[in-house]
Amino acid sequence: MIWQSFDSYEALSEHAAQLLLQSIPAVLGLPTGRTPIGMYERVVAECSRQYHCFRDVVTFNLDEYAGISCEHPGSYCAYMRQHLFDHVDLDRKNAHIPDGTAPDLDAECTRYENEIAATGGLGVTFLGLGQNGHIGFNEPGTPFTSRTRVVELTQSTRVANAALFEDGHVPTYAITIGIATILDSKRIVLLASGESKRAAIERLKSGEVSVDFPASALHGHADVTVLVA
Ligand code: GLP
Repeated sequence: MIWQSFDSYEALSEHAAQLLLQSIPAVLGLPTGRTPIGMYERVVAECSRQYHCFRDVVTFNLDEYAGISCEHPGSYCAYMRQHLFDHVDLDRKNAHIPDGTAPDLDAECTRYENEIAATGGLGVTFLGLGQNGHIGFNEPGTPFTSRTRVVELTQSTRVANAALFEDGHVPTYAITIGIATILDSKRIVLLASGESKRAAIERLKSGEVSVDFPASALHGHADVTVLVA
């Protein structure tokens, strides 16, 4: 695991954006949340100067809430449109997000996992870090062998993600790719910024490997870079 520390969120975002752009052409695993917003901003700015920046890119988002559609401002689908998809020349048929409104969510999970496999698996996966160590929506207790599936969110995760939901009404369930799906990526880049992540970063640094701390699964991967600010 390679650790890189930055003096500011801006510097971290700039470096993350460069890593993303340098990996193109690629199959990318993409995160949501507050942390990667600066990375996306810089990627979009850079791509406005380059013709066909995302023409040879396929993306798979890590997760999506169950029961809300792309029209809901709290959905990760809306997030991705706002922060990336609407601003780059990524072919929408190459931009994959689990469908949280699918009538059969288990079937949707199988379809999504198969779709990732059909592209040859994830190339570079960018991850955020939950305060409780979650990656994607793989909450503490998740087996490292897990694949794409429906999960129940912890109360602390729902509180942490309440900002985009009216009355703080965050969905209880979500679809997430599994820890094994993430570990199959050729390369993994984890972004963590701010005081609220300090404890999780220290725990990851300690080297402890435990299902109680999902991000610790990354110690079993040969090519992980952690960017911290
Ligand atoms: C959500 C997402 C995660 C993300 C986490 C951290 O729970 N499902 O993929 O890593 O939030 O978000 P933030 O960057 O806003 O702290």
